[in-house]
Parts: sequence; C-alpha cells; structure tokens
Amino acid sequence: MTTKKSPSSKSKPKKIKKAVFPAAGFGTRFLPATKAIPKEMLPLVDKPLIQYVIEEAADSGIEEIIIVTGMGKTAIEDHFDISFELESLLKEKGKKQLLKMIREISDRVTYAYTRQKQPLGLGHAVQITKNLVSDEPFVVLLGDDIIDAKVPATKQMMKLYNKVNASVIAVQKVPKNQTHLYGVIQGEKVGPGTYRITDLVEKPQKNPPSNLAIIGRYILTPGIFKSLEKTKKGRGGELQLTDALRTLLETEEIYACEFEGDRYDAGDKLGFLKANISYGLKHSDISTDLKRFLKSLKL
Ligand code: G1P
Repeated sequence: MTTKKSPSSKSKPKKIKKAVFPAAGFGTRFLPATKAIPKEMLPLVDKPLIQYVIEEAADSGIEEIIIVTGMGKTAIEDHFDISFELESLLKEKGKKQLLKMIREISDRVTYAYTRQKQPLGLGHAVQITKNLVSDEPFVVLLGDDIIDAKVPATKQMMKLYNKVNASVIAVQKVPKNQTHLYGVIQGEKVGPGTYRITDLVEKPQKNPPSNLAIIGRYILTPGIFKSLEKTKKGRGGELQLTDALRTLLETEEIYACEFEGDRYDAGDKLGFLKANISYGLKHSDISTDLKRFLKSLKL
C-alpha cells in the first residue's frame, strides 16, 4: 500500500509561474460562428474570451502562458503578438489609450504554444505540455469558464495551495440535475469552502457523489504527468483529466476550493449571452445605455 504524501511531510510550496490553457477544441456548441473563428476569440463585450482568462492568470502572478492550440487557431497567436501595422496606425492617429490597451496583455507575460494534433481529451491536452511545464506545479485554466471575482479565482486557489502544498481544484455547488455535465468531487470539509478530496467522477450519469462540480481551474503538482501516463481512456473515449486526478489521489492529497465569484459557462450559448450582459452592464462605455435598453424590453 502506498502512503499519501501529507502536506506536513513536504517542503515549502514552490512558486507557481506557469499556466496551461487548453484551446484546441472545435467549439461545436457555437457552430456556425466557430467554423472559421476559434471559440476562444469570441468577444465578451470588447475582448476575446481567452484574454479574460489570461488576465486572471497574470493578475494571480503567473508569468508564463502555455496555450495548447490546434488546426484553425492561429488567430489566438496573432492576438497575443505585436501587430506593427496596427500599432503604427494608432500612433499616427494619436490613439495612445488604444495602443496601450492592445499592447498590455502581450507585454505582461510570455507565451509558448504547442499543438494538440488530435482531439484526444483534456487530459491529453495537459499531457502534451509536460516538457514545457517540466518539474513544477502549474495551473490549468479552461477558457469556457469565465469567473468574475474581486480576488481572481486562481489567486484564491493559490492561497489554499500555499497552505496545503498539494493540488487544488476549483469547485462550485450546482443543482443536482446538472451534475452530469461536470466532473464531481466527493470531499471532506476541512475549512470554510475547503475540502480534502476523497474521490472524483467525470460527468456522473447517476448517483453523483455530491453537488460540488469541478470548474475549469486546476492547480496541479507535476505528479499529474505520471498519473496521466497511467490513466486509461475514459468518457467519450478521451483521456480525462478527472480520471488522472483520481489516479493522483492514490499517492497525493488533493484539495478543492469553493471560490468566491460569479462563474459563467461561456462555452454555452446562454452562458455566453449572460456573461455579455453582465460584463456589458459593468462596462463604462455602454452600461447606462445597455441598462436603458434592457428595461425597454418589458419582458
Ligand atoms: C471539463 C472537465 C469537467 C469540468 C468542466 C468544467 O469538461 O472534463 O470535469 O467539470 O470542464 O468546465 P468539458 O466542459 O470540457 O466537457
């Protein structure tokens, strides 16, 4: 029998500097909009979805961004690159504010890209970043989950990571009739909004172990790579990250963090529209007019 590494038996937690963004999916839930445009580039008011998630990572102290792309995703690379033509045009026209805005996210962090050649699952997308991540803890952020929070969700999770020195997964309570859409954890409450995970199941079709659903933020120890190697294909014939975490649980403790903030499933039409309305109502350029328009609808 293997004994789990307890937090106290481990040394000081290593600083988390890298974040992985799986972005190779086809975005079928958004067809035909996503036939020629990556779903990660769909705008939430005036910024592409992926930029919100990268800003969350940067605001949490992440320095290196690793994006897993695929066929038809070059717009993502272009977005985070410098566009000399656009910049010289903005300079010429004296649009300093816009110039600063488009440059900021390119300059704040470094970017590396790797391609997932086949849609073999979220676990596989993480697995192929092994050499880029190397032997360090890292974060995985899913662009479909947009989290509006005072303290960035990733930062809230890092606080717990620094205490427990183990993998930490974001969770949120969902209605029981929605648990089949998520990875679901079973855990023992060890503090406010904090659980020590005892089991995890990917999209349980019946008997979910709880109503705590996994949301797309994971702080992972490098041990996950060994677990991914040992894990067999799961739901949908894909290598599931949830299944690899279950394997990791055999040797390491894993915690769950019920973060504070509003989460939108921007990978879904309704969630995407809700996010646009909510972020629009907070946007200084349009909030007053949008509010007036929504009131005028008299639904
Ligand atoms: C993925 C994970 C699932 C998690 C979800 C969060 O599923 O496999 O465990 O609950 O993200 O958004 P997907 O929504 O990509 O099918």
